[in-house]
Amino acid sequence: MRTTISSFVLREESEDVGRNPTDNPTIGDVIAARFARRDILKGALGVAAIAATVSPLALAATGSARAEAASRYRFDELEAGADENHHVAPGYDADVLIRWGDPVLPGAPPFNPTAHTAAAQRAQFGYNNDYLAYFPMPGAADPSAHGLLVVNHEYTNEELMFAGLKRPESKDAPRTGSTLARTDIEIAAHGGSVIEVKRENGKWQVAANSKYARRIDADTPMEITGPVAGHPRMQTPADPAGRRVHGMVNNCAGGVTPWGTWLTCEENIHHYFTGKLPDGHPEARNHRRYGVPSGFYQWGDFHDRFNLGKASNEPNRFGWVVEIDPFDPASTPKKRTALGRGKHEGAAGVVNKDSRYVVYMGDDERFEYVYRFITAGRFDPADPRASRDLLDEGTVSVARYNADGTLDWLPLVYGQGSLTAENGFASQADVLIEKRRAADLLKPTRMDRPEDVEASPATGKVYVMLTNNDRRTAERVDAANPRAANDFGHIIEMTPPDGDHAAPQFRWEILVRCGDPAVAAVGATFSTETTRNGWFGMPDNLAFDNQGRMWIATDGNTRKRSGRTDGLWGLETEGPLRGTSRHFYRVPLGAELCGPCFTPDDQTLFVAVQHPAEGGSADAVSTFEEPITRWPDFKPGMPPRPSVVVITRRGGGKIGT
Ligand code: FEO
Ligand code: CA
Ligand code: CA
Ligand code: CA
Repeated sequence: MRTTISSFVLREESEDVGRNPTDNPTIGDVIAARFARRDILKGALGVAAIAATVSPLALAATGSARAEAASRYRFDELEAGADENHHVAPGYDADVLIRWGDPVLPGAPPFNPTAHTAAAQRAQFGYNNDYLAYFPMPGAADPSAHGLLVVNHEYTNEELMFAGLKRPESKDAPRTGSTLARTDIEIAAHGGSVIEVKRENGKWQVAANSKYARRIDADTPMEITGPVAGHPRMQTPADPAGRRVHGMVNNCAGGVTPWGTWLTCEENIHHYFTGKLPDGHPEARNHRRYGVPSGFYQWGDFHDRFNLGKASNEPNRFGWVVEIDPFDPASTPKKRTALGRGKHEGAAGVVNKDSRYVVYMGDDERFEYVYRFITAGRFDPADPRASRDLLDEGTVSVARYNADGTLDWLPLVYGQGSLTAENGFASQADVLIEKRRAADLLKPTRMDRPEDVEASPATGKVYVMLTNNDRRTAERVDAANPRAANDFGHIIEMTPPDGDHAAPQFRWEILVRCGDPAVAAVGATFSTETTRNGWFGMPDNLAFDNQGRMWIATDGNTRKRSGRTDGLWGLETEGPLRGTSRHFYRVPLGAELCGPCFTPDDQTLFVAVQHPAEGGSADAVSTFEEPITRWPDFKPGMPPRPSVVVITRRGGGKIGT
């Protein structure tokens, strides 16, 4: 979800909601020379900064070594820019695979932009596609040409979906004028989709009438599992047992487990609640910490469970990592509470050397934290199904980035340290429901909006996308978040000792500070081999291809902010070209890019173009009647439509080689 201040679209965080109230830790005066030096040694600093600290001779040597090094991203770079269409590097095709409103379930009606119904939307592709993952079809002749694609549908843009909506007075103005019918369409447009996809004669298509096809929405029955299941704080009038919840909301990014399931993360849950808790209610502090309610959507006017005055515990049932078996459309999605509750961007994991499964999570709000979960049990590749409930037991920790380049993982375990009755925690369930407040007490590092966190399958190093933080002040910078008014974000690289992802201490350094290297005040540190098209701001999602190369998707670039729309960039992480970025694909005006995902042969790249034409103060007012782009259909009367795009190389071959 996008983050610029807007007068009428949903933004990542409303003012002062879910704000981290702690002072954890403000080590402002330790932006060590050390980090500058380490960045230089790794070749990730701009030439001006290098020149300030390295001799001209050494500089020349660094430059020529870079020039001679072969880029691992071999394609003619795309020109950065901003217009109504999407664009891919020369020699590649970028085709729309499926768009909002296209049929998913057998019998779904065709898309009709002026006659939406909840029933139609429940059978059609949802809105604002975000995370994507590809599961090869077992037994397929070519596993890279036939599989399931799972898709998150994060949120809805009513002003682009429905005709006749006016621009609200201010960005915080609630969406007045909603109706039960519109609310139910919104609920049906959230969630996720499972589609079966096939490549035939070089072109990808969605298989019609697939037995795997599935729509999950914000009303789909789900099971609450793990330490919090059945806890009194999970019980509601509609679910006195506290074990079943309807739906998932604001599913942003996610992960794929080695036992073949899809993890999908509930992010900005505060937007779905309205109403007021009774005075002195025991959940008041908890809900405040998560910014609940924001009152943005008006679902609570039509469904009691989204109204705090009628169901005070319902927000505790959202904000979890949800696990779904994509191959069983009858399976019940499971909210895995052992990983804790937050506004998680993603949950990407790695099998550790001791066979425990380790999941990294970013909690995407300004000044929130980076987390790690380690399963108690071990993954057995000989019997993947036995791992089906591995995520129900384990230990979640929060990261403290020390100024000396070490990183401590601080376990959130009831009864240890401050996590006791004295601080309002009576059990591990309380710690997990209030993961943010529990973390506050351990004094972790308050980050610049942690988005995707993912381990490289090639090197085992773990990368954290920190998208931006316009509220960080000069007094509150620290080693891991070194820029005040961090408009363009940065990327942290974490190194587990001996490849042990369960170790209590890692090392870390900054891979790159993002933004335009030509603007000295920005302080960007892409390598000097990066072209004027190659730099980016606001890193959000990352993916590794099967050659271990990193690809970054961005959220928040606009013509005004960066002279370019969002898109996809390949970023070198090793060798003399480390910190060099190349531009491969860009989205139409108003969109962000999400969910990059490769087939096992690296010949197909799926991406999600989210909220095309979304307006904002940086761009323009954009509505159903007058959108800033009508991508991808470009037909009068047809609104812009979030879509999954499939990118292939003309004539075949691996992407970018
Ligand atoms: Fe939905 Fe963290 O972006
Ligand atoms: Ca984002
Ligand atoms: Ca995102
Ligand atoms: Ca990712």
